[in-house]
Amino acid sequence: MPSAPSSKPRILTGDTPTGQLHLGHYVGSVKRRVELQSTHECFFIIANMHAFTTRAEEPQEVRRDCLEIVRDHLAMGIDPARSSTFLQTEVPAIAELTYLFAMLLPFNRVMRNPTLKDEIRDRKLGDRYSFGFPLYAVGQTADILAFRAHSVPVGLDQVAHIELTREVARRFNQIYCGVSDQAPDEEHVTLGGVFPIPLADVGKVGRLVGVDGKMKMSKQLNNAIFISDTPEEVRKKIAKIYTGRQSLTEPGDPGNALFQYVETFIEDPQRVDQLKDRYARGDNIGDGHIKQEVAEAVNRLLAPMRERRAAYEGDDDGIMDILLAGCQRANEVAEKTLARAKEVAGLKFFDRTLRIDR
Ligand code: TRP
Repeated sequence: MPSAPSSKPRILTGDTPTGQLHLGHYVGSVKRRVELQSTHECFFIIANMHAFTTRAEEPQEVRRDCLEIVRDHLAMGIDPARSSTFLQTEVPAIAELTYLFAMLLPFNRVMRNPTLKDEIRDRKLGDRYSFGFPLYAVGQTADILAFRAHSVPVGLDQVAHIELTREVARRFNQIYCGVSDQAPDEEHVTLGGVFPIPLADVGKVGRLVGVDGKMKMSKQLNNAIFISDTPEEVRKKIAKIYTGRQSLTEPGDPGNALFQYVETFIEDPQRVDQLKDRYARGDNIGDGHIKQEVAEAVNRLLAPMRERRAAYEGDDDGIMDILLAGCQRANEVAEKTLARAKEVAGLKFFDRTLRIDR
């Protein structure tokens, strides 16, 4: 299914299948993706190989979660006619580039990645993580570079991976394409580099705090609001938000987790200021009232998503068709990139044509 080459700037981003997508994914990334669809050529990866870093022993659950991501995407407003959602394991160029890029990165550099360190700590992996665990960070550089993406819309926690990607791209272009190590990032491609140096594009809410009021929202940490939650479940979860001062917040937040929700979900900026002001002055407004108002706002946002999601419930066949089209378009781009990369690195001896189908 060859598609016309697009002149729009290309983005690549995606998710590790860990269950259904939640509000943190929506505000941190998917909302942005929906907006970018009209101005950018969009590729969205479902990182199912990465999921095996922690879930190698539950392959059927990972497989199911891949389909859930597509459902959540559709529910949140992603349009499969305009953007390509694809599976990491159906685009073999990614695995091949991972192997090549692994050769260009010092092992210690990979292990210095703060996101890996955080994950080892938060998931209590100790020293029991697999060899593939640090390798996933290298794999993520291949996810991005296989598409020669210009920018990567992500949450704050992913910026370290994008930084690693930028280093690999520079290094590759310097070693195999004769780009000078003095070359400015924006000029790598004009100077003959295979890879543009991608930018991390961090949305306004880089990191939505979970309903525990402390940690980043995450299914594993059991502090997430899902789009399939009922209005009542949403109210209950929001009522639990811890509002003590020691909670982790972004710079500029008024100091507690609940107000990140106020700022993120209450649409009227005047109402946001009013709530902040009254709360700060202790003017007859308590956590309970604010929580109720936040829950209503979240439920207003989720209502149309719940409806769209329900329409795709059970329709695995339709979802598989959307995935196949996405994987085909992804392979068209990634195969070309891989061929060019192998060529300049002296690794290409023959042509190949890849074909996937149901
Ligand atoms: N590591 C990302 C996450 O867990 C998912 C991901 C995989 C990704 N490959 C990517 C994100 C490439 C952006 C670009 O959320």
